[in-house]
Amino acid sequence: MMEVFVISVIFASVLIVPFLLKTFFPYVWMDVVYFGDLMSIVVKFVARRRRKPLFSVLDRFLEQTAAHPDKHFIVFENDRHSFSDADKRSNKIANALQSHPGYEAGDTVALFTGNEPAFMFTWLALAKLGSPVALLNHNIRTKSLLHCFNCCKAKVLVAAAELKEAVEDVLPSLMDQGVTVLLMTKHCDTPGIEGFSDKVDEASDAPLPRSLRSHMTFKSPAVYIYTSGTTGLPKAAVINQNRLLAALVVLSSNGVTSNDVIYVNLPLYHTAGFVIGFIGSIETGSTIILKRKFSASQFWDDCRKYNVTVVQYIGEVMRYLCSTPKRENDRDHKVRLAIGNGIRAEIWREFVRRFGNIQIREFYASTEGNVGFVNYTGKVGAIGRVNFLHRKIFPYTLVKYDTERDEPIRDANGLCVEVPKGETGLLVSKITDIAPFVGYAQNEEQTERKRLRNVLKKGDLYFNTWKGENVATTEVSDILTISECLKEANVYGVQVPGHEGRIGMAAVTVKKDAQFDGSKIYNHVVSYLPSYARPRFIRIQNAVEVTGTFKQMKVKLVEESFDPGRIQDPLYILDDTVKGYIPLTAQVYSSIMSGNSKL
Ligand SMILES: *[C@@H]1O[C@H](CO)[C@@H](O)[C@H](O)[C@H]1NC(C)=O
Ligand SMILES: *[C@@H]1O[C@H](CO)[C@@H](O)[C@H](O)[C@H]1NC(C)=O
Repeated sequence: MMEVFVISVIFASVLIVPFLLKTFFPYVWMDVVYFGDLMSIVVKFVARRRRKPLFSVLDRFLEQTAAHPDKHFIVFENDRHSFSDADKRSNKIANALQSHPGYEAGDTVALFTGNEPAFMFTWLALAKLGSPVALLNHNIRTKSLLHCFNCCKAKVLVAAAELKEAVEDVLPSLMDQGVTVLLMTKHCDTPGIEGFSDKVDEASDAPLPRSLRSHMTFKSPAVYIYTSGTTGLPKAAVINQNRLLAALVVLSSNGVTSNDVIYVNLPLYHTAGFVIGFIGSIETGSTIILKRKFSASQFWDDCRKYNVTVVQYIGEVMRYLCSTPKRENDRDHKVRLAIGNGIRAEIWREFVRRFGNIQIREFYASTEGNVGFVNYTGKVGAIGRVNFLHRKIFPYTLVKYDTERDEPIRDANGLCVEVPKGETGLLVSKITDIAPFVGYAQNEEQTERKRLRNVLKKGDLYFNTWKGENVATTEVSDILTISECLKEANVYGVQVPGHEGRIGMAAVTVKKDAQFDGSKIYNHVVSYLPSYARPRFIRIQNAVEVTGTFKQMKVKLVEESFDPGRIQDPLYILDDTVKGYIPLTAQVYSSIMSGNSKL
C-alpha cells in the first residue's frame, strides 16, 4: 500500500514538475536534480523494503564485505580494519555472546564504549544476533547511567575496559536486576563483572545464521539513541529497522561514494556520528577515519594524513576550526564536502574563505523526528530547501506558536494557525506511514508530548519539532548535575564582546548540606567535557525559579548574563591557571567587557 502510494505521488508529480517549477521556483534545475535524486532514493528504499527475507542495514554491510573484503573500512589510530576484518571480529563477538548463559536471543544490549572500532564491531555483532542496542553516552555516570540503561530494558551491559569504575558505581543496582555485565578486558576481579575479551578472542569467526534474525520486522527496534529533553534525564529515542534502513541514504544522497574517506570525530552514541557517519558509510562503502573525539588542532593534519574527502560537523566544530591560528597549509587537503548542522552564516563564509572550496551540506533533522531538509542549493545560511514535491510526500507546515505558554496558538475551531510566508513558526510534520514517529522507549508521556493533534483538520496527527533548547546544553547540564555538590544546572550561552557565538554559562543550585567547591567542579568539568563545552561562568542560585516556563526562565538568565552589578547571586569564572572556578568580581567583569582580559 505504502509503496503504491509513494510511487503514484512521484509519477503524478513528475508530469507537472517542469511547468510549475519553472514558473514559480527560482532554483528550478537544482530542484529537478534534487527531485530526481529523491526519487531514485525512494525507489531504492521501496525496492529494499520489498525484499524477502527482510533487508536490513546489516545486509548492506554484508554486501559491501562480499564486494570488497580487503578494502579499509575503519582506520583508527594505528589500526586499519578491512570490511572482512570487521565482519570476522563481529562474528567472534556474536558467537561469544550467543554461547554466554547471561544472554538470550533477541535481548536488548546496552553498549557503553567510547569512539573506537570495538563500538562498531559490537554493534555489528548484535545486529547479527538480532538484538536491539542501546547506545549509552560514555560520559554519563551514576543516576543518569542507570536511568538510560533501564529505560530500554536492557539485559546485558557491554562496557569498555576504561569505563570499569563507572560500571562499578552502578553495579549493585545492575546486580539486583540480574543484568549480565561484560567488560571488554581479559580478566576482571570485581565480582559481578566478567572479563569478556578473552572469550571473544577464543570464539569462532564463523558467520551467524540468518535465522537468528527471523523475528525481526521493520518495526523492531534497532538502536536506542538518547536525546536530552528540556528537563530531567535523557530520553531513549527508538530507531527501528525501517528508520535505520532509510538512514543508509544520508551520505549517498549527498554524492558520497566508495572512493570517499570520511572523518568521523563526533560521538558514535549520537545520531550524527552513528547514523550519518557510520550507517551512512555502510551504504557507500567508504573508509571511515575514526577519532576518539573532536580536536581542532589535529583536524586538518588528520585530513591530510588520511586523504579525507568528507567531514562531518556540528556548528561548534566549524566555529572552533575557524578560531584556530591560521596556517600556510590551511588549503592543503582533499576535503570536498562537509555535512552537518548548526553552522552560522558568517562562520560558513569564513570557513570557505579560509579552507577553500568545500561544499557545505547543511541539513536539519532530529534523532527522533520525521522530517528532514538538506540545503542542496548551497545557499549560505539555509538549513535546507524543500520543493513542493518533497512537501507532498512529507507534508509539513509552520504554525503560530505561543512561546510564553509553550504551546501552539489555536483558532476558534481548535485548529492550529499556519504562519504567513516569511514569519517564524513552529515546524510540524505530518506523521504518516512513510514519515512515522516511533517515540521514546518506556516514556509514553514524552512521546505524547511530541504528538500534535488537530493541526489543520480534526483528527490529524503531526510531529512537534519544538525543542526549547539544543542538545549540547542539556548534555552539559547532565554532566554538571552528576558532580558531587550540584543539584540542578541550567546551561545557556551569553554574549561577550569580541567573541564569535556565545560563551557557555551555567546557573546551578547546590545540594542541601553541600558547598560549592570551585576546584572540585573544575576537575569534574575538565574530566567530562571538552574545553569548548565547559561553562566559563557559573551562577549559583538558591533555587531554580519555578514561575513561568523553562524557556522564559532561560531568556531572563541570558539577559542578566554574568554582570555582578545586576546579579546578587554568587558568580564564578573558570580559570585554567589556578585550575578552578574563582569568584567573578566587578574588576574581572569590566576587564572582560573592555577586552583587556581574553576568555
Ligand atoms: C594520499 O594520497 C596521496 C597522493 O594521492 C598518496 O600518495 C598517499 O599514499 C595517500 N595516503 C593515504 C594514507 O592513503
Ligand atoms: C544554503 O547554503 C548556501 C551556501 O552554500 C547559503 O547561501 C544559503 O543561505 C543556505 N541556506 C540557509 C537557509 O542557510
